[in-house]
Amino acid sequence: MPEFRLTQISDTHLTRRHQELTDNFHRVSEYIDATRPDLVVNSGDLAWDAPTNPDDPEFAHELHAALPVPCRYLPGNHDVGDNPTLPAPAPSQPVTEQGVQAFRACFGEDRWRFEAAGWCFIGLNSLVMNTGLASEAQQFDWLAQALASADRRPVALFLHKPLFLNSPEDAELAATAMRFVPMPSRRRLVEMLNTVDLRLVASGHVHQRRDFTSRHVRHVWAPSTGFIIPDRKQEVIGRKEVGLVEYRFQPDAFEVRHVRAPGQIDVDLEQLLRRS
Ligand SMILES: [Fe+2]
Ligand SMILES: [Fe+2]
Repeated sequence: MPEFRLTQISDTHLTRRHQELTDNFHRVSEYIDATRPDLVVNSGDLAWDAPTNPDDPEFAHELHAALPVPCRYLPGNHDVGDNPTLPAPAPSQPVTEQGVQAFRACFGEDRWRFEAAGWCFIGLNSLVMNTGLASEAQQFDWLAQALASADRRPVALFLHKPLFLNSPEDAELAATAMRFVPMPSRRRLVEMLNTVDLRLVASGHVHQRRDFTSRHVRHVWAPSTGFIIPDRKQEVIGRKEVGLVEYRFQPDAFEVRHVRAPGQIDVDLEQLLRRS
């Protein structure tokens, strides 16, 4: 039976300025070297903060390129800037076409589709949602075609921001609006996804590990490989730890394993910033 092994890493936030995050990435790299999945997906925030530190993406790419397996990348808000939300104030670094272009130049396409083990895999740029940028309209057109071509195969979706907290109808609180795919683009996306056999939505961004099922779709929030955010800065929703997620896909079935690479350390963001 064909099997496809995928390892999801997220929120690596790499920069030459924070060695502890690079050390955690090296522990993850060693684990990937030992386990040799078919593919590594980084679901965004590859860089510490590309808008303010233009060297970070190149450094992040260098470290990923040294991995012994192929990688696919998706942008996070610290790679291309953040998307506007209805209830929250405008982000300090809004996503721009320029930011998206810079990401593509460094990491390749910011959205992708491929098939393996009887599944259709789709990666989306969640940061262009709700922006009104040409990239958003282009991505929705592209997604319509990608979903049509799934042709009854089960679909696994990867993106940086989770779709929602618990269900598509969650009321969007102003304080957490930036945590999820923003309304009203989320509604459009969910409606499009309702037309296919969606089984998995894999995201990052929150720096907390979470795994739940909503309407037969499994939602997996990958933790950061690099750091956790202390409770006084961020409420506890899932598990605050660093780590990664392993998937095994077979026709019509998949398994999820929540993993910490040996030697990974739960770096606390506040302590990291205090030391720098
Ligand atoms: Fe992040
Ligand atoms: Fe993020």
